[in-house]
Amino acid sequence: MAQAKPKFYLTTPIYYTNGLPHIGHTYTTVVADTIRRYKRMQGYEVVMTTGTDEHGVNVERAAQKAGVPESEFVAKMAEAWRSLWEELGVPADEFIRTTEVRHARTVQWLFKLCRENGFVYPGHYTGQYCIYDNAYVDVKPGENCPDCGRPTETVTEENYFFKLSAFQQPLLDFYKKNPNFIQPETRRNEILSFVAGGLRDLSITRTSIRWGIPVPGEEPHVFYVWFDALTAYLSAVGGPEYERRGFWPADLHLVGKDIIRFHTVYWPAFLMAAGLPVPKQVWAHGWFLIDAGKMSKSKGNVVQPRPIAHVLGMDALRYYMLRETVFGQDGNFSYDALVQRYNSDLANGLGNLASRTLTMIEKYCGGAFPKGSADLSISLAPWRVPERIQQVRSLYEQYHFTRALEEIWRLITDVDLLISEQKPWALAEDPAKRAQLETVLWIAADTLRVVAVLAHPVIPTATEKLWRALGQSGSVGEQGIDDLQWGTLRAGTKIAKAEGLFPRIEKQEAVERMEAMESEPQKPAVTPAPTASVPAGPGPSGAVSQTAPEKIAIEDFAKVEMRVGQVKTAERIVGADKLLKLTVDIGSEVRQICAGIAQFYEPESLVGRKVVVVVNLAPRKLRGVESNGMIVAASVGPEGRPVLAAFTEDVEVGARLK
Ligand code: MSP
Repeated sequence: MAQAKPKFYLTTPIYYTNGLPHIGHTYTTVVADTIRRYKRMQGYEVVMTTGTDEHGVNVERAAQKAGVPESEFVAKMAEAWRSLWEELGVPADEFIRTTEVRHARTVQWLFKLCRENGFVYPGHYTGQYCIYDNAYVDVKPGENCPDCGRPTETVTEENYFFKLSAFQQPLLDFYKKNPNFIQPETRRNEILSFVAGGLRDLSITRTSIRWGIPVPGEEPHVFYVWFDALTAYLSAVGGPEYERRGFWPADLHLVGKDIIRFHTVYWPAFLMAAGLPVPKQVWAHGWFLIDAGKMSKSKGNVVQPRPIAHVLGMDALRYYMLRETVFGQDGNFSYDALVQRYNSDLANGLGNLASRTLTMIEKYCGGAFPKGSADLSISLAPWRVPERIQQVRSLYEQYHFTRALEEIWRLITDVDLLISEQKPWALAEDPAKRAQLETVLWIAADTLRVVAVLAHPVIPTATEKLWRALGQSGSVGEQGIDDLQWGTLRAGTKIAKAEGLFPRIEKQEAVERMEAMESEPQKPAVTPAPTASVPAGPGPSGAVSQTAPEKIAIEDFAKVEMRVGQVKTAERIVGADKLLKLTVDIGSEVRQICAGIAQFYEPESLVGRKVVVVVNLAPRKLRGVESNGMIVAASVGPEGRPVLAAFTEDVEVGARLK
C-alpha cells in the first residue's frame, strides 16, 4: 500500500473586507504559495488557507458608507479577494470567510470550551478602542492609537473576559520549549518581553457591535473580531471535527509584523484554554513600503498587483518580492526596481540563457540532447552543482528566499560564463572539438533543468514552460525537489521549441503601462445597487445567512424620505457603462442623481417619466459624478435586472411615499 503523505498546513492572515488587495497582501499570499509549492515538491500533502475577515466595526462602517447591507457588501468583497488570488495563480486550497456557518460553529465551540474550562468570566470594561486595529489601546481619551496613529474611541462595555493573565507562565514555558515558534528571532524577543511584562485579561465579546457572530444564549453579545478571526484557521480545516482531516495544528502561520501579538499571544492562549493543540510556528514578515512609508489609501500610494501581473507577468512580481526583500524585514517597492530586476535577472538572465542554449542544441545537435562526457564536464564545470542544490534546499527550508534565489542565479551566471569562454559556435567549426561542444551544451541544458526545478516554487509559470522546452515529461511542480540530481539529463531527448520566457521590455514603457492601469478604478466598486429600495437597511444580525433580517419599527421606516420625482434629463457617463446621470425634479428642487440602469434603459426613454426617489440619502460620488439621492427599482431575476418603480395612476411630483 502506498504510504500516506505527510501533511503540511499553512495559512496567510484572513484579509479585511473593508478594502481590496494591494501588493502588501499579495506578498504574504505569494510567500505562502511559494512554500506550498516547495512542500508539495517535497512530497507533502499541503493545505494553504487564506480568506476574508468580514466582521467588526470597520466592515460595518465601510458597508454603511457604500450604502449596502453588510452581508451584500462582504459577499462582493470576499469574491473580489478570492477571484483575484485565482487570477494571480495563488488560489487558496481552503478559502474561509468569517461569515460562513462552518466558521461561526467553530468560534462558538471554542468559546464554549474556554468557558467550560473556567477561562471566561463576565465583566465591565471602559477603555480607548481603535476601530481600525480592532483593539483596545493603552492611551488616554482623546489620544490617538499608538500603532496606527488614528483617533481612538472611548468604549464602555459589559462583556465576557478571557483570562489571558492566567497564561503568562504557560506561554513563557511554551516559547521556551518551542524556540522556533516565533520567527524571526527579533520578533521572538519582542514578544518574550511583552509577555514577561504581564498580561491583562482580554474582553472577547462586544455588545456595542451588531455585525459579528452571536454568543449563543448571550445575545446581543457578539464575538470580538480577533477571537472570531483567529479561529478561522481552525474552521478551515474541520473546526470541531479537525481530527478527521488531520491538518491541525497548523505548521505555519504567515503574518505581517503588525499582527504578531494576536498570533503568538492571544491565539495560543485561546487554544491552550480550550485544551486544543497549538500551531507549530508563526513567521512575521515585514512590510512593503513605498518611498519608505506605509501604503495607504489616504496617501494615494497603494500599488495593486493586477497591473504588474498584466504587464510583466506574475512570475516577475513573485521573483522581485522574494529576491529583493529579505523575508522578515521591510522592503521598499518601486516600479523602477521591479522592471530593472525583470530585465536583468529574468529576461537577460534565465530567459536569455534558455533561449541561447536551446537554439544551439537545435542548431548543432539536431534538436536532441547531446551526450556529455563525464570527465570533460568535471573539468569544464568546476562549480559543484550537487552542493549548490543542497544549499538551495537548505535555504528554502529556512525560508531564506533571497539567498536561495541568489544561489540559483549563480548557476545561471556560471553557465553564461562557461558559454562565453567555450564559444560553442567556434567549437562547432572544428570536428575534433565535437565532444567538447556536446559537453558544454549538455552542461548548459542539464543545469537549466536543475534551475527549473529549484526555481519552480518562486516562478512557477516560466519554469513549467522551460520544463516543456527541455522536452521533459510531466510537470516540473511534480518533481521531487529532495531527489533532484545533476547529471541525469537523458541524451537523445528531443527538445521542444524554445518559447520566449521573459521578453525584454523597455523600462519607461512598462512603468507607464502599469501606472496607467493602476489609476483605473479597482473592481469591484461596491456601490449601493441604485436599484435597491432601502439603501443601508439593517443587515442580518449575527452570522450571515443564519438569521432573518431584523424587523424595523415604523419610526425607522419614517427616516427614509421617498418622493415622486420626474426625470428632466438623462445621459450616459463616459467610462461607466452601467451608470446614467439624471436630473430629477422632486418638487422642491431639481437633483442630479446617478442610477445603475444604463444597460437596461435608454436615456431618452426616461425623460418625462415619473420615478420614486430616496431624497434624504447622503450625497456621494459615483465614478467621480455627484449623486444626490437614489432612484428606487425592483431587482429582478438572478442578474438583478432593475425595473423602475412606477405608478398606474397619475401622481404629483414631490408627493411623499409613506
Ligand atoms: N484581518 C486581519 C488579520 C486576521 S488573521 C486572523 C488583518 N487584515 S489586513 O487585511 O489588514 O492585513 C492582512 C495582512 O496584510 C497582515 O499580515 C498585514 O501585515 C499585511 N499587510 C498589510 N499591508 C502590508 C504591506 N504594506 N506590506 C506587507 N504586508 C502588509 O490584519
